[in-house]
Amino acid sequence: MDVYGLLGNPVGHSLSPPMHEAAYDELGLEARYVTFEPGRDALETAIEGADALGVAGLNVTIPFKQEALEIVAPEDLATRIGAVNTIDFSGSGPPTGYNTDAVGALRALRDHDVDLEDARAVVVGAGGAGRAVAFGLADAGATVAIANRTEPKARQLAEAVPRASGHGLADVERLLAEADVLVNATSVGMEEDATPVPADALHGDLAVLDAVYRPLETRLLRDAAEAGATTVDGAWMLLYQGVEAFEIWTGRDAPVAAMNEALRSRL
Ligand code: ATR
Repeated sequence: MDVYGLLGNPVGHSLSPPMHEAAYDELGLEARYVTFEPGRDALETAIEGADALGVAGLNVTIPFKQEALEIVAPEDLATRIGAVNTIDFSGSGPPTGYNTDAVGALRALRDHDVDLEDARAVVVGAGGAGRAVAFGLADAGATVAIANRTEPKARQLAEAVPRASGHGLADVERLLAEADVLVNATSVGMEEDATPVPADALHGDLAVLDAVYRPLETRLLRDAAEAGATTVDGAWMLLYQGVEAFEIWTGRDAPVAAMNEALRSRL
């Protein structure tokens, strides 16, 4: 029996257990996925303990993603993003840390036939999600304009991301006129009918990914659909960060349809 899990505080309403267990069921794997809620000062002890107990893999969420970077041996992309959301214990050395949020966003877009090579992307938000998406898009060959309410944060992030520029939200309308891809990586729209982008800045040549998944259809995605844009909801990004973690841990192709169904039936 392989044990996987999620480290966070709080982790109460996580959708990761049903999503991963659907994959184990589908492939007939003897595995379980459980949630762990260590104290905020107990992350290192928790990771060492999991390693000692033979836990196969862990996801990491708020508030531990940045601190986890200091405890595991991070892969290059996780180091650049500054956060680890997946730990693999299978090697003989120290556990390896990955950031699958970045690849999750890319796979969500590619799943909807969005071509990222040489695409002009606008990322709204420069927090944890914004950092992951910006580095991911740049690695995929896109030019990235990062726009954030607190403009200096966008400028600082843009200095670290290849081919990126940093902006305040006032520039979004102008940036979108020339863009192919828009990602909302802010919390605007979560459990509220609000959008970080004016509706009339959206157009039919855009693909719009909203990292918010509660509600699934945010005001931004409604506006985007009305403008004729391709829309990608936040459950796709959540799905593919999990798919990527599953594939790192097991070395097998994930049963994406089964994981997607388990996730969407709970949203
Ligand atoms: P996460 O890890 O989910 O990205 P975060 O690191 O707290 O969370 O970042 C939240 C992001 O949403 C930030 O880019 C934040 O902008 P600021 O850097 O200016 O705080 C953005 N955000 C949150 N509420 C917002 C609002 N009402 N309008 C615009 N941006 C908002």
